Amino acid sequence: MPTCLSSDVFVQPAAGVPAKFQRLIVTPNIRFSEIISALSVALDITQGHPQGHCIRTALIGMRLADVLRLPPPDCSALFYALLLKDLGCSSNAAKMAYLFGADDHLVKRAARMIDWTNAGQCLKHCWNNCVPEGSPLEKLLKIAAIVKQGPASSRGVIKTRCERGANIARMLQLPEATATAILDLDEHWNGRGNPHGLKGERISLLGRVCCLAQTVEVFFTAYGLEAALDVACQRRGEWFDPDLVDLLLTLRRESIFWERLLSANLFAEISRVEPEGAVLLADDDCLDRVAEAFALVVDAKSPWTYQHSTRVAEIAVGVARQFGCPVDLERDLRRTALLHDIGKLGVSNLILDKRGKPTDVEYAQIRKHPEYSQRILEQVAAFGTLAEVAGAHHERLDGRGYHRGVSAGEIPWVTRVLTVADVCEAMSAARPYRDAMPWDQIRQILANDAGRGVDPDCLHALERWQDRHELASRLEAQLSEVDRLLSEL
Ligand SMILES: [Fe+2]
Ligand SMILES: [Fe+2]
Repeated sequence: MPTCLSSDVFVQPAAGVPAKFQRLIVTPNIRFSEIISALSVALDITQGHPQGHCIRTALIGMRLADVLRLPPPDCSALFYALLLKDLGCSSNAAKMAYLFGADDHLVKRAARMIDWTNAGQCLKHCWNNCVPEGSPLEKLLKIAAIVKQGPASSRGVIKTRCERGANIARMLQLPEATATAILDLDEHWNGRGNPHGLKGERISLLGRVCCLAQTVEVFFTAYGLEAALDVACQRRGEWFDPDLVDLLLTLRRESIFWERLLSANLFAEISRVEPEGAVLLADDDCLDRVAEAFALVVDAKSPWTYQHSTRVAEIAVGVARQFGCPVDLERDLRRTALLHDIGKLGVSNLILDKRGKPTDVEYAQIRKHPEYSQRILEQVAAFGTLAEVAGAHHERLDGRGYHRGVSAGEIPWVTRVLTVADVCEAMSAARPYRDAMPWDQIRQILANDAGRGVDPDCLHALERWQDRHELASRLEAQLSEVDRLLSEL
């Protein structure tokens, strides 16, 4: 994980507010770009890219924008398109893992290293990545299933990803040019890209820049500058706008620029290229939108966790209100709950969607996700406390939780609220290896664990909230999401 920003900017206690009701976010003057840069790392881990992929892609794309002398509004739209190009990427993770019988991160990463318009390379990719530990027969069966799906299926997968990404960008109230660039990300100059087979200048210029920049980043990071430029030249006029490739080649001797892409302090590098005059500050409404947008990304990762984050947020706020929680903190808690599982984007769907109980090795992978959440979120200086709370949502009062294994004295009230909401929501939903539980069963399990796992006062608050609001089932929505996925396979 990147460690370039210090995370020691914690919320200063507000005078007269009880310690447990202190806010989780320092709200004034947070740069929107700082938040988006930090959260772009979550998109990197979803795609199996080395961390910093989106930021390096943005640095390359913005250098091309300089050379192109793009007008300021286009530069701003491009900046966010480059950072958020993979917003829709979690929507196909479950399908990738199932089709290949492999870790979706590895499959996706490997797919970026090939020319998938070349049938021979596609077949080799399938052979190398289908059921990695399987027999030749198992591999062949998987490949046959993928081939049977045909090109229309992969076009559909990319269409869903691009449209979903564009819609989330709109939800973030980014310019329409940003959404269009995300839609056009996988279109190719020769008209053989996806999802619409747009050709030449019918593809938006910002989309063409994103397409070139992301491929150059992948090969630059894996094999160095010359390899990246070679791929750009090989695909000039096929994947990429020839004029853009020519402009890229003029950057060959800018050694300081290419060295900066290898910087350990990528967040500082990206903040330097944020278009001047278009620096956005994130107000409270904007913070809400960001949390809601990334909750959609997280919840799309697996059909089994469909709507989980949004419902944990609803329950957590309901529980906190029983304690007379101030409105400001309630808002911060909601954002924290929406983002608490962002680290799950780094866990393979082979594990998340497994039909049986996870093995010890798989469980160890699952147990890493709160730490990932914390490390992603703490890259935003103002999110230091929020990140700690999100990262502690699987801690237990008896110290047997994860990822730090801290016990009661180190678990603040607000974390206990989040934990009880998370556990309750998870039990109310189906898992591949067990049915959804009714409220009475959930209450019984939580009551047996009160004082050791969950906080008894928080449990009582949950019971009071449940009495008045009754936890609506998401089972139907969840199972229809599972059915939708299965029908596509
Ligand atoms: Fe979790
Ligand atoms: Fe969760």
